[in-house]
Amino acid sequence: MDAIVAVYDDWGIGCEGDQPIALSADRKFFRRYTAGSTVIVGRKTVGSFPGQAPLPKRRNIVLTRQDIDLPGFERASSPEEAAAMCAGDEKVFVIGGGTVYRQMLPLCDRAIITKVHTTTACDTYFPNLDESPQWELAETLESGEENGIPYEMCVYVKK
Ligand SMILES: NC(=O)c1ccc[n+]([C@@H]2O[C@H](COP(=O)([O-])OP(=O)(O)OC[C@H]3O[C@@H](n4cnc5c(N)ncnc54)[C@H](OP(=O)(O)O)[C@@H]3O)[C@@H](O)[C@H]2O)c1
Repeated sequence: MDAIVAVYDDWGIGCEGDQPIALSADRKFFRRYTAGSTVIVGRKTVGSFPGQAPLPKRRNIVLTRQDIDLPGFERASSPEEAAAMCAGDEKVFVIGGGTVYRQMLPLCDRAIITKVHTTTACDTYFPNLDESPQWELAETLESGEENGIPYEMCVYVKK
């Protein structure tokens, strides 16, 4: 299982339920990289999806403690249940948000991190893997610049 996320320089990932600065290069990378996979997502992040619709061409599992019906999503009531539901799936990505990353990172072998080299006010953060003794940078897949903001897609692996 992998986590995939876009972080600013201070490892901020969101503010008031949304991503304050989102690069189209990152959105395209995310779509390409996660195509055909199973994604695990927190209920609050689903609130930022257009029409609260599931991501197309992917199996969508939503984490919630509530007895709610989100059409197109399978519901899991704990990280362990979500992991068990997709145990046989070939590609599984934890796609946020903050609380779900924090709880599920211990179950992940890799983290695919788009580093968006800027800072902006955030209220939600991803753990800083550069300061974690458990993780190391393995490779950089892509890099570029959009609207004057440099970015790079990095693969971190658990040591
Ligand atoms: N930069 C990025 O790549 C990226 C990616 C994704 C999200 N984000 C940002 O992250 C922010 C949202 O993150 P967030 O931390 O506020 O919310 P979140 O993690 O998306 O969702 C939290 C919700 O998930 C459910 N949940 C969490 N832990 C659970 C557990 N152990 N068992 C069952 N359900 C559980 C609960 O839903 P219920 O309340 O329904 O019980 C909880 O309220 C937004 O700003 C979003 O834009 C950024």
